[in-house]
Amino acid sequence: MDSYKHRPSSAFNSPFWTANSGAPIWNNNSSLTVGPRGPILLEDYHLVEKLANFDRERIPERVVHARGASAKGFFEVTHDISQLTCADFLRAPGVQTPVIVRFSTVIHERGSPETLRDPRGFAVKFYTREGNFDLVGNNFPVFFIRDGMKFPDMVHALKPNPKSHIQENWRILDFFSHHPESLHMFTFLFDDLGVPQDYRHMEGSGVNTYTLINKAGKAHYVKFHWKPTCGVKCLLEEEAIKVGGSNHSHATQDLYDSIAAGNYPEWKLFIQTIDPDHEQRFDFDPLDVTKTWPEDILPLQPVGRLVLIRTLTTSLLKMNSLHFALLLWFLEFTIQMTSYSRLVSSPTLIPRGTG
Ligand code: HEM
Repeated sequence: MDSYKHRPSSAFNSPFWTANSGAPIWNNNSSLTVGPRGPILLEDYHLVEKLANFDRERIPERVVHARGASAKGFFEVTHDISQLTCADFLRAPGVQTPVIVRFSTVIHERGSPETLRDPRGFAVKFYTREGNFDLVGNNFPVFFIRDGMKFPDMVHALKPNPKSHIQENWRILDFFSHHPESLHMFTFLFDDLGVPQDYRHMEGSGVNTYTLINKAGKAHYVKFHWKPTCGVKCLLEEEAIKVGGSNHSHATQDLYDSIAAGNYPEWKLFIQTIDPDHEQRFDFDPLDVTKTWPEDILPLQPVGRLVLIRTLTTSLLKMNSLHFALLLWFLEFTIQMTSYSRLVSSPTLIPRGTG
């Protein structure tokens, strides 16, 4: 046999079905049996693998942030912050890094309307030369709670009542009335900002305080902020009812349509920094996730721009398997209870099938 002729012309153009391992499958139609009517042999590896793959081909949806849309693009450094960080992807103006971004709502399920009053997720995965860095943020700069111990209870209060499957205000207010620290985030949620017009017109924030470390080992506390170049736009209650009534995927559609039309969504990245040696100078705790850092005393410093240029060509299933983690060596979480809880929560998600 001429082995050259029988070699597949490319890894993606094999004339055979292949097993997960890449081994060729000669028969994809009949099980391996002892006789014409069975029994089936356990050594029929392909049958076992095919059924196992099929049985698991649905990835359970995220417990929060299930409803979302993703797009790819790049991040480009526009301002030199190398005095603050040794991160390779922030090393100099002009450096570009590929990214994937996932926007989401938080509480309701995968098929829920995108017009609900709910915080929005703004998660950016930077594919840096030093490994992936996931900057997992929200559209509001503060969080409801400080201690991640309360996160499951908070989410359960916000989720529909398990008995009726209806979201009930009394359950939400019952929980949050015991947590006055949540009031700041509520002022965003129930303000005109509570329903973003779409994903393109909303801000993003890292929320947690991170630490940037420079080449000399000096640390700075940092907050990350994304500002859309097309401005912030939101829907009023009546507008949201109208938009949601005619298209429950309007924000996903807007993202896809604007990229397809070459109207690439863009955000500028800004940081605010505090030297940890000076943290006592403020009348608020810079590590308190329910507080913002006043921009008049801690001005926004430009860093770069994020441009989305490609929608995802992979299936919805693949999109749902996009997983955001929270670790990278040069950007550390500071000692905040919410951030530690997120760190602990992150690897526990791998069994969900995302990995
Ligand atoms: C307080 C502790 C927290 C816990 C225990 C927690 C837990 C989780 C969990 C379980 C998921 C689902 C992930 C998946 O199944 O793939 C998730 C997603 C997410 N979380 Fe948190 N979270 C916390 C705090 C935060 C904070 C403070 C923010 C905002 C900065 C945030 C933003 C997000 C976003 C944007 C996603 C969706 C990421 C995506 O699009 O896949 N979380 N979180």
